[in-house]
Formats: sequence, C-alpha cells, structure tokens
Amino acid sequence: MNANYRIPGGWSLFWLIGALILAMSALILALNPDTTEAVRSVIRATARSSFALFLLAFVASSLATLVPNDLTRGLMRERRYIGLSFAFSHFVHLLAIIAYGVLNPQFWPGRSALTNAPGTLGYVFIALLALTSFRFASRHMTAAAWKRLHTAGIWVIAAIFGYSFFKRIPSMSVLYAIPFSILCAAVAVRLVGKWAQANKRRQARTRSLDRSSSFPNQLEPVS
Ligand code: HEM
Repeated sequence: MNANYRIPGGWSLFWLIGALILAMSALILALNPDTTEAVRSVIRATARSSFALFLLAFVASSLATLVPNDLTRGLMRERRYIGLSFAFSHFVHLLAIIAYGVLNPQFWPGRSALTNAPGTLGYVFIALLALTSFRFASRHMTAAAWKRLHTAGIWVIAAIFGYSFFKRIPSMSVLYAIPFSILCAAVAVRLVGKWAQANKRRQARTRSLDRSSSFPNQLEPVS
C-alpha cells in the first residue's frame, strides 16, 4: 500500500496477514482447554477473518472510484494479495473443519450432501480464483473468460457468506444480522461503484467520439 500508511504491500502483505491468521488460530487453541470446542472456535474465527478480507477485495475497485484517495487506491493496488489472503484464511477454515470432523465423530454424519453443497461450491470457486490469480494458470484463459470467472466466483462467494450468516439469525443469534447487513451494504457499494465506472467509460467514449466527429469540420474552409 502507499508508503504514507506504512502498510506492507504485495507478498509481504500476504505473509503478514497469513501470520496473523495462524497466530489467532494458535492463540484460540492455546487458550481453550477443550480442544474440540477450541477447533470449533477456530472454524468460526477463520470464517470471520475470511469475511473481513473478502469484503475488502469485494469493494476495493468501487471504493477507489467512489472515494478516490491514497487509502482506497492502495486497497485497489493490493486487491490480489488481499484476495489470496482470503483464500489462505479459508484454507485454515478447511483444515479446522477436517480436524473438527476427526475430534467430533458425529459432525459429518450430522450433515447431508445438501447442507455441504454451498460450502463445497464455495471452495471450488475459492480454489479457481486463487489459482487463476497466478500467471501460470491465467495464461491459458482469454481476458474475457478470466473476467467472467472472477465476477461469477466473487458473487457466488458473497452469496454463500450471506446465506451462512442469514441462516444463523433465527437458529443461533440475532447478532448475525450485523455481518449480514454489512454484506448487504458492501453489495450496494459494489453495484453503485460499478455503475459509476460504466458511466465514466460511457462519458469518455462520447467525448472521444465528439472530438473525432468535430475535427474534420475544423479543417473545412469557413465560407
Ligand atoms: C463444505 C464446506 C464447509 C463446511 C463443512 C463448513 C463448516 C462450518 C462450520 C462447522 C462452522 C461453525 C459452525 C458453528 O459452530 O456455528 C462454519 C462457520 C461458518 N462458515 Fe463454514 N464451512 C464450509 C465452507 C464455507 C464457505 C465456503 C464459506 C464462505 C464462503 C463459509 C462461511 C462460514 C461462515 C460465515 C460461518 C459462521 C462464522 C460465525 O459464526 O461467525 N464456510 N462453517
């Protein structure tokens, strides 16, 4: 990010966030005497760290358009590393789920293929988006296919977060309405930002068309 904010950028940012996620998970495991419950807390904590990182990547480009300043431009520049940090956080979510399944033998039998479907679909998209963030994978795709995959994947992941929080409001706590509302606000910011970007592009095109159509007239002799 911008040097003014003294936040590391690129891979340093990725490793810093990754280390913080691992430290958070280790602390939860160390502080909780009940290992099974501790692992369940790690599942919840990594879902939340993933959500925060996902939100930053989700609104980065729109924020840079709607509120252009050093911070939002920096966020936009680091979007790739924030996205990869999100994938890492969700990888830890997956490791904790596997560990929880081992520690609590009732976990997997208590779930059906249907209840696992949204999460599995989410992991398929997270893996695809993370892989195609690297040149070795993205060079096999056209720019249009890359854009379609990333746009679809981001919306699928947003929908899974929305569903995961929304279903917990009646069954677990009304407080899950808070992250659900934050997600709705982020969706609004993203849509308005994309609309503003499309509008800017349209205006730029109209201006350049106006210039090219008025140019020959200027060369015509004035009678
Ligand atoms: C098959 C894949 C997945 C499984 C089996 C799974 C399992 C779990 C479990 C066991 C919890 C903790 C439940 C509790 O104690 O309340 C949880 C929480 C959560 N998961 Fe996953 N998950 C999966 C994939 C995903 C994906 C792909 C996302 C998002 C894109 C996601 C988002 C969440 C959220 C938002 C929470 C709630 C965290 C909180 O309590 O604040 N999960 N998941």
